[in-house]
Amino acid sequence: MTGSGRGVHVTGWGSYVPSQVLTNADLETMVETSDEWIVSRTGICERRIAGPGETTASMAAVAGLRAIAVAGLKPDDIDLILVGTLTPDYPMPSTAALVKDAIGNKRAAAMDLAAACSGFVYGYATAHAYIASGMATNVLVIGAETLSRCTDFTDRGTCILFGDAAGAAVLSASDEPGGTLGIELTTEPAGAYYIWLPAGGAARPATNATLAAGEHYMKMKGSETFRMAVRTLGSTSLKALEKAGLGLPDVDLVIPHQANVRIIEGLARSLDFPMERVFVNVDHYGNTSAASVPLALAEAVGSGRVKQGDRLLLVAFGAGLTSGAIALQWTADPALSARAESIGPGDVSVLPGYLEPVNPFPPALEWLLKRSAGG
Ligand code: UT7
Repeated sequence: MTGSGRGVHVTGWGSYVPSQVLTNADLETMVETSDEWIVSRTGICERRIAGPGETTASMAAVAGLRAIAVAGLKPDDIDLILVGTLTPDYPMPSTAALVKDAIGNKRAAAMDLAAACSGFVYGYATAHAYIASGMATNVLVIGAETLSRCTDFTDRGTCILFGDAAGAAVLSASDEPGGTLGIELTTEPAGAYYIWLPAGGAARPATNATLAAGEHYMKMKGSETFRMAVRTLGSTSLKALEKAGLGLPDVDLVIPHQANVRIIEGLARSLDFPMERVFVNVDHYGNTSAASVPLALAEAVGSGRVKQGDRLLLVAFGAGLTSGAIALQWTADPALSARAESIGPGDVSVLPGYLEPVNPFPPALEWLLKRSAGG
């Protein structure tokens, strides 16, 4: 266990992905690219796109409710809800507040966490601190993103990478052995403008000029981010393991942020760690930012890649540049994944918007809706 206080274990996990699929072949019709280029440079084959009625809060709520069911808890057993996201429904109120209402929780504190793609790992660390100190017993940590709403679908350097999804975990106090063993978080502002979204904040409020310049879309220096990612993921992983008193041979499965398979392979190479013990699902979902680690965790556990007693390393990096790693010993029964199966979007309802409803679906993808509707 890291630090003093009570043990902290993952007792629930869950995810949600929208049904619409955007393939590499689809992107070939939109920008100058090819399936061959995207697969060889990123490992991505397809990604999911949230439908017009879906938002970060609605997807987060389904993933969260699934994680609560897997944990065998009721929504009101949750003391704190943390949502890691860079695409909140609104700058305020927090997406976590909307999620609290949507899952029917009446008593939790709720807040968002801005650490970009490291948002879930930062949320895990925050939840751990609350539980270990006795301030909370059960915390719902969610990573959720609707990146399609801030992606420039004319920019081939970014639009091939990103997708929409949500993933969640319930962390609970427990005196049994195992659970969280070591945590490391870092932030390196030297890379602050490698990945950023220039307009819409206090430095550059949204105006017609920022809109015309496309400053409401994500911008990225791809190769600089790539190099820093491989270096930071490696050093953060080693520090978390050191704090846990573990070495790399003790790790059964690494679940890294799914940004690019070449970054993941670069991490494995730099640590001299076998790829057979690294979980990869970037091929199906692309980079889903804060959702990527909990989505991969839920899939790894549900598909039988994780056994009770396994030592896992969760590791992420993102804009900031933030990075975080968690070393933990898995104690929950993976078969409990089945409890999530009965829960779907119909089980949550996000507070209706106060303003007249506006379809937030990206105009560049309107054709995808027609295809999904069979038109
Ligand atoms: O969660 C964190 C978020 N960000 C990341 O993780 C991104 C990290 N970076 C990357 O994944 C990679 O840098 C990319 C996939 C974005 C780009 O791959 P790369 O191997 O670093 O390519 P590059 O940027 O060095 O570009 C190589 C060439 C360029 O053409 P020229 O200048 O050599 O003629 C690009 O214009 O590839 C071109 N290019 C493309 N070609 C076809 C860039 N994007 C595309 C594309 N299709 N989609």
